[in-house]
Amino acid sequence: MRKQIAAANWKMNKTIDEGIALIKEIIHSDIKLQQGSEVLFAVPYPYLSSIKELISGKENMFIAAQNCHHKKNGAYTGEVSVEMLNSLGIKHCLVGHSERREYFAESNQVIAQKVDLCLETGITPVFCCGEPLEIRDLSSQNQYVTTQLNESLFHLSADDIKKVVIAYEPIWAIGTGRTASSEQAQEMHAHIRSVLDSTYGSAVASEISILYGGSVKGANANELFSMQDVDGGLVGGASLVASEFVQIINSLKK
Ligand code: PGA
Repeated sequence: MRKQIAAANWKMNKTIDEGIALIKEIIHSDIKLQQGSEVLFAVPYPYLSSIKELISGKENMFIAAQNCHHKKNGAYTGEVSVEMLNSLGIKHCLVGHSERREYFAESNQVIAQKVDLCLETGITPVFCCGEPLEIRDLSSQNQYVTTQLNESLFHLSADDIKKVVIAYEPIWAIGTGRTASSEQAQEMHAHIRSVLDSTYGSAVASEISILYGGSVKGANANELFSMQDVDGGLVGGASLVASEFVQIINSLKK
């Protein structure tokens, strides 16, 4: 079975004390994590090291960055490079989240550069894609997401694309409480897998984990994750509440 992943995206929330309390509550909960499943915590940059300490020794739990810069190093005040992340032992990084695309004008091309730098550095990029509401209303979501994949990922070799985790997050479902139905999620995940298949072949396509994101909660995780091509979730709001996130982790496919 493909790797099943529950990924928390804290975004710009929690003080360090609140973050530590949250992680402690989660790791001391009754978590049933199957062999080969993973939990990621994408926490704010300043907390990477201290929160990483807290989960050291926890098998299959990793701290992730929420972003990285698209240049290796240099005069980019306030930015963080993949090399810096790597030097902290961080091995996962969200790339191309829709909030970064929207508020920081990240293009598919810039995101491609980030993906490349992550892979060169041995960091797993969690590549986010997904359409805005106006595209969904035109029923053009498949085309839209295909272009995102084409322009940011499909220059990669088969060996490299296998190292990428894809997160499909329809923008209209992020933070809105309006979750995609499990059928809508499955439809897009199957589409993404079919595009991977026609570009890289079915063996490669079947290995790549595709997470769903957008108002995932304890109450809907089970149904979403039971869909054939949904390999877990990228979770914002509900990852800030220990009991919710634990329920989401325990909903990963067994
Ligand atoms: P949400 O956010 O779960 O709050 O909708 C998901 C995300 O943006 O990754």
